Formats: sequence, C-alpha cells, structure tokens
Amino acid sequence: MATFDPKALQNVQLEREGFLAVVRVNRPTKLNALDDQTIAELDCLFAALDADDAVGAVILTGAGDKAFVAGADIGVLARQGVLDGKENARRGQALTLRIEQSRKPVLAAINGYAFGGGLELALACDVRFASKAARLGLPEVSLGIIPGYGGTQRLPRLVGPGRALQMILTGDPLTADEAERIGLVNAVFEPGELLEKCKAIALRMVSRGPQAVALAKQAVRRGAHLSLADGLALEADLFGIVSSTAEMKEGMAAFLEKRKPSWLRG
Ligand code: COA
Repeated sequence: MATFDPKALQNVQLEREGFLAVVRVNRPTKLNALDDQTIAELDCLFAALDADDAVGAVILTGAGDKAFVAGADIGVLARQGVLDGKENARRGQALTLRIEQSRKPVLAAINGYAFGGGLELALACDVRFASKAARLGLPEVSLGIIPGYGGTQRLPRLVGPGRALQMILTGDPLTADEAERIGLVNAVFEPGELLEKCKAIALRMVSRGPQAVALAKQAVRRGAHLSLADGLALEADLFGIVSSTAEMKEGMAAFLEKRKPSWLRG
C-alpha cells in the first residue's frame, strides 16, 4: 500500500500514537453511517495498517459523542436493487473480513449508537468496549431488510443463537450494560473514559511479542471455523512456527535474565 495517503481520507480519520492507530469513522451529520466512500476508505486504511509493521494495535471508534456507526447509509440502501444490494453486502462483508483477518488486534471503542452495519463492524473486531451511553442493535427488519455485513453469522457465534435471534428478529437495541451481560461487549466504561481505557488495553497487547500476538489471533480466528481436532492441529502447527522465532528466543531469554523483553518491530 505504498501509494496510500491518509490525508486523502474524507470520511475516516487516522491518529497515530506510538504503536497505536486510532481509526475514527467521521460523518457526524449522518451519525457516521456507512456509505460506499466510507466503506472504501476503511477498507483501504485497514489494509495499510495491517501492512505497517510500526502499528501494533488498532482502535476503531466513531467521531463525535453520539454515534459509533448508526448503520449502513439508509439513503443508499433505499435506492438499491438485487444486484447492487448483493454488491453492497459483499463490500461490507469484505471490510469485516479484512478487520477480522488483520494480523493486528483490533478493538472497537463503541462510543454511541452501534446499529446495523455499525454493530457488524464492531462484531468483526477482536474485542469490544462500550460507553455507558452506547446502544447496540441490528434494526434491519424494522426497515424491511436483513443484516448484510455479517451480523446474521457473527452475532450468533458470539452470543449464541437464542440471544442473537431475539436481537435480529425484534430489531430492538440493547443498552451497553445489557450487551455486557450477554458477552456482546467485554466491558462498559464511562463515556469520557472509554478511549483511554481502550488505549490502555491495546497497549497491554502491544507490549507482548508481536508475532506471538498475530499467531495467537490467527489460531483463534481460523480455529473458530474448524472441528476441535482440526483446530488443535492448527494450534500445534502455529506453536511449531512460533517456537522457531527470534522473538521466542528473546521472550525466554528476558524471563530467565529477569528483564523486560525487547521486541523487534518494523
Ligand atoms: N443512514 C443514513 N442516515 C442516517 C442513519 C443511517 N443509518 N442514521 C442516522 N442518519 C442521519 C439521519 O437521517 C439524520 O440526518 P438529517 O439530519 O439529514 O435528517 C442524522 O443522521 C441524525 O439522525 P437523527 O435520526 O435525527 O438522530 P436521532 O438522535 O433522532 O436518532 C438514531 C438516532 C440512531 C436512533 C436514528 O438516527 C436511527 O434510527 N438511525 C437509523 C439506524 C438504523 O436503522 N441503522 C441500520 C441501517 S441498515
């Protein structure tokens, strides 16, 4: 992604802070709803961040204090037919897959409404934290459509089919506390503390061996689609790979020498 220029982004903002990247969806007048341009910018940005060895973890959040992302842009959805509807779903799904398959941990800082495509983006992240003021839901059936960016597949895998079906079939949103209770978000923080708490958790991940973190994520992500036997075989393969790295030698040496490891990055 040598040609990628973050300054060219219109609907997405990027902030770098050491090894952390904070990605903000930024269409506040539309509550950060996802139009084609925003999806394309997020896709391009996540590809660039994944390829950048100086990035240790990514936090995804929404601009302003009202919304994380209030869904796919209903103005766009209202105009689509069969073929462009399918294409729209494919573009959104490709973005969620890119996030899910990124080598870097991706944390969702859900600072407000996470509806429809917004919740689906958060579902593709590795971990989710919410502001107390956040509301989370898949309201698509109230618009006469179904979730199309992975919600019907990832939500039941995360919270179980019964809870997912209640959310998907009623379209009713959950409060942040309700979302925490069913495991949809890992923790709930005061609105003013959300980003700093997420950064602190991201920095814990960044302080660990970068290759080990990437391979551990890969083991969990790929294993989720395998039988237990195949998942264990995958884990053993990746354990073999990680047992040959300079990073592993440094991690073990640092422990034995009672010092902090010094990881090679970038
Ligand atoms: N797509 C396009 N525009 C959206 C949007 C979406 N998903 N969500 C909000 N907006 C726009 C509104 O149309 C409005 O634009 P306008 O000022 O030009 O009329 C602006 O964002 C502010 O939204 P508004 O509805 O006035 O704010 P609110 O505080 O009264 O309500 C919500 C907030 C999130 C409850 C409400 O906007 C909503 O229900 N949005 C749709 C959520 C949804 O169904 N998402 C799934 C889509 S598949």
